[in-house]
Amino acid sequence: MMKFLPSLLLFVSYASAYTYERLNKNDTVFVIIDIQVGLFSVARDYDAILYRNAIYAHAELAKVFGTPMAPMVRCQQTSSTCSEILLSSTVLEKCENAWDNPEFRKAIEATGKKQVVLAGITTDVCTSFAALSMREAGYSVFVNVEASGTTTELVRSASNDCMRDAGVQVLSTFAIMSELMRDWRDTPGAAELFPFLDKYYPAYTMVALAHRAAVENGTVITGEEKLH
Ligand SMILES: *[C@@H]1O[C@H](CO)[C@@H](O)[C@H](O)[C@H]1NC(C)=O
Ligand SMILES: *[C@@H]1O[C@H](CO)[C@@H](O)[C@H](O)[C@H]1NC(C)=O
Repeated sequence: MMKFLPSLLLFVSYASAYTYERLNKNDTVFVIIDIQVGLFSVARDYDAILYRNAIYAHAELAKVFGTPMAPMVRCQQTSSTCSEILLSSTVLEKCENAWDNPEFRKAIEATGKKQVVLAGITTDVCTSFAALSMREAGYSVFVNVEASGTTTELVRSASNDCMRDAGVQVLSTFAIMSELMRDWRDTPGAAELFPFLDKYYPAYTMVALAHRAAVENGTVITGEEKLH
């Protein structure tokens, strides 16, 4: 009997070593760093259209959830790539590490939020440096992997590994949306987020349309009844 005790204790301590920290819409601030025309072309690790749309989606999520979108750094050259939402956020001159800019730090601190959801150009410099400094300063950092771009897949994966080592969570836009929402019946929930998904993740809207069609006029055809 006693013989098994040490391994049991080991198992218990291993099992409790990880705490899953979930995004909480009440404690979140969204940030986009260095979205500008010149740098946009540097991001080649990911399809340019998907990447641009992911940046818009990132900004729009902040709007849908009513979380602060603060502040964006150096967007003044970007009229063609900044959506209305992006242009309405604060613009600051940046340092390579945005956290070195006292105005940026003050703006984040002023929100009183402890979870930062980050996007940027480039993943290895602007996104990573700010993420690492904010981890060091005690923030929880969540990087939107689709809304951060860099030169190559090699650089992206090295940067994401580096951030994960510092406890940064690297998530998709849909994962960020889902964690913030938690339940389709909440507000924001299905009513507020289907329009968002229709714009940025239409494949998921198809799931909803198929569900609606089945409910409105569900007819099981021969063969389907055997599927499980
Ligand atoms: C956010 O705040 C509201 C209002 O206080 C509360 O009802 C809700 O449970 C909070 N959400 C989370 C995820 O903590
Ligand atoms: C429902 O589906 C059946 C089978 O396809 C079709 O015959 C019928 O017209 C549909 N009804 C409506 C109201 O769309």
